[in-house]
Amino acid sequence: MKRILIVGAGGQIGSELTTYLRKIYGNDNVVATDVRECKQLAESGPFEVMNALDANAMAEMVSRQKIDSIFNLVALLSAVGEAKPQTAWQVNIGALMNSLEVARQYNCALFTPSSIGAFGPSSPKDKTPQDTVMRPTTMYGVCKVTGEMLGDYYHSRFGVDTRSVRFPGLISNVTLPGGGGTTDYAVDIYYSAVKGEKFICPIPEGTLMDMMYMPDALNAAISLMEADPTKLVHRNSFNIASMSFTPEIIYAEIKKRLPDFTMDYDVDPVKKAIAESWPNSLDDTCAREEWGWKPEWDLSSMTDDMLEVIRKKNLK
Ligand code: SER
Repeated sequence: MKRILIVGAGGQIGSELTTYLRKIYGNDNVVATDVRECKQLAESGPFEVMNALDANAMAEMVSRQKIDSIFNLVALLSAVGEAKPQTAWQVNIGALMNSLEVARQYNCALFTPSSIGAFGPSSPKDKTPQDTVMRPTTMYGVCKVTGEMLGDYYHSRFGVDTRSVRFPGLISNVTLPGGGGTTDYAVDIYYSAVKGEKFICPIPEGTLMDMMYMPDALNAAISLMEADPTKLVHRNSFNIASMSFTPEIIYAEIKKRLPDFTMDYDVDPVKKAIAESWPNSLDDTCAREEWGWKPEWDLSSMTDDMLEVIRKKNLK
């Protein structure tokens, strides 16, 4: 990777991935784009407003900027996807198809995240294998499985270097996930704790979901894109995992450090149904064997870091 295009750079993953990639490959070699202006990203390197659904605009950008690798991060998340399924399909698949086509025409490598949401209620719940029944019951998941298959198709049919991971719920402290995801509660809970507010949890007690701290997620994306292609048996997409917890487990972890912190439940029925259709934990053996995936953060170290960083924001 020498000249990188980030599509959807203003979101939860993109805002941190752009900074991370700029440190590795040089500020000028990472072109960030989003449908909206992003002042902060424009301060550290090239930034352009671009609508990922505009195929001509994307092709023009890739050609003019001499791009060789694309990270397509555009997606409506799971809960918002249930509120607007038609829009979710249009946006998620529209941005992906444009990225695939541009990658094919301009000979670029392409990374697109998949998700734990690609699995469904008939997938094995615990240690969900790499290759198994998918059959998701959300539009978000339908888009993710479609994306995985399109990625493999463009690789086998056209030789496009497509690679992808199935991200768990991502926990970060730079850009909020935006409220549209089922796993967003695991970010929001830290902000409530630091602000000294009671946290109202939308996910029922006892619901296990895979989660990951953003630094591990960024490292996964880049390690996979830099991996030796001859070692890759799979491509779209790899299970990756680092921790799996329920609301009461993350609450207890925070409460160890902030004993006055309290939490109540007000379960969102849409998020409950989505969460219950997803795995409890993924088996990431293939990622470990094929490209050396190894997470560095667990719930305890992540909680220390999240609380420290959010405290420094001096939130009111
Ligand atoms: N974080 C996503 C969501 O909750 C899942 O990948 O929708």
